[in-house]
Amino acid sequence: MNAQSSIGELAEIQSLLLALVEDADENTLREQYHPDLSPLGWHLGHCVFIECLWLQEEILGEGKLGGAIRELYTPPHTPKSERGRLLPSKHALLDWARERQAFSLNALSNPRPEWRDHPLLTDDYLIHFLIQHNSQHYETMLMVLTQRALARFEPHGAGRQTLQPLHPRQESVDIPAGQYRIGGERPTAYDNEVPQQPAELRPFTISKRPVSNAEYLAFMQDGGYRRKELWDSAGWEWCRHHRVLCPDHWRRSEEGHWCGIGVAGAYQLAGNEPVCGISQYEASAFARWAGGHLPHEYEWEAACRLGVLQQTGRAWEWCDNPFHPYQGFTAFPYPEYSQPWFDGRHYSLRGGSLHTRASVKRPSFRNFHEADKRHIFAGLRLSYRNR
Ligand code: AVJ
Ligand code: FE
Repeated sequence: MNAQSSIGELAEIQSLLLALVEDADENTLREQYHPDLSPLGWHLGHCVFIECLWLQEEILGEGKLGGAIRELYTPPHTPKSERGRLLPSKHALLDWARERQAFSLNALSNPRPEWRDHPLLTDDYLIHFLIQHNSQHYETMLMVLTQRALARFEPHGAGRQTLQPLHPRQESVDIPAGQYRIGGERPTAYDNEVPQQPAELRPFTISKRPVSNAEYLAFMQDGGYRRKELWDSAGWEWCRHHRVLCPDHWRRSEEGHWCGIGVAGAYQLAGNEPVCGISQYEASAFARWAGGHLPHEYEWEAACRLGVLQQTGRAWEWCDNPFHPYQGFTAFPYPEYSQPWFDGRHYSLRGGSLHTRASVKRPSFRNFHEADKRHIFAGLRLSYRNR
């Protein structure tokens, strides 16, 4: 992709972030709808701050950004619960965001000759980084709006169920043992996707499709949430403690029918769409119930590159391995993007959701979350080993 079209892509995602804030009222901007999610308005401010940080401060050397902005938009410096209160008014936030976004676009479209050897600008790295950083926060903002819709859900008249349970079909592909290429390439790849390397895989079998809503309903109706033997001990404890009974984004109408809740409210769950809104604990319990397990992320990537995976990019797919550094990992451009999350508690997810922008959908992209997270748009695909 040339610099001009990536500038266009950056402009597009900047506008999408602005539009979500423009459409929200002051309360919606500030409200924390979920303990793991920052307020909607904070995400716009943070994305703009990150653009300023790299461009103004790091590359242009225009001095440190203002203390209050820096404190508010640097995640470890201000707890999520404080962010709404500290946010400027909608008007002030939008004015600042529009002005700074235009500045970034202009500076990046007119690179100075002395930037040629800057490591952040090699092959337009920074443009790609900002597109992807904004895109990831855009998806998170849609999670915020989903939580808002959940909080407002009204079971009366929420539609009738067309969803019928379906026992999982095992339409799968056998992948032979061998060496498979893992990893991505700069300038688009994040630090955790490189260096590219061969992975030695044992033979495995992977489903062509992710687990569907209909299949997940079959698990629920077969007592999936009540059968301890399907869960590992941490998962079972989590499930009991939080009284989890269905995906995070599912609700029952007054008539007792399941429906999905999205950004725009209730919708009918399609039987053949991938299930989403489940934690890795739930994904693993489903897999055990269905006689399979979650794939390792290298298996997912190898199968993806072979072109055998269908319906990717509709729900993130939980993998069974912790998020970890590849051999030869070096943090770039800053340690906080990946390094702190190589903690053995985060698990890799692959693929992308309906709310993931194309700039983040690639075979090598690695998402990562803790096993109990279910406000994300994640489901699973079954794998079978040594069959
Ligand atoms: C990779 C999606 C888990 O949103 O916390 C955004 C991406 N990192 N800003 C997140 C990220 C820094 C990250 N996830
Ligand atoms: Fe961020």
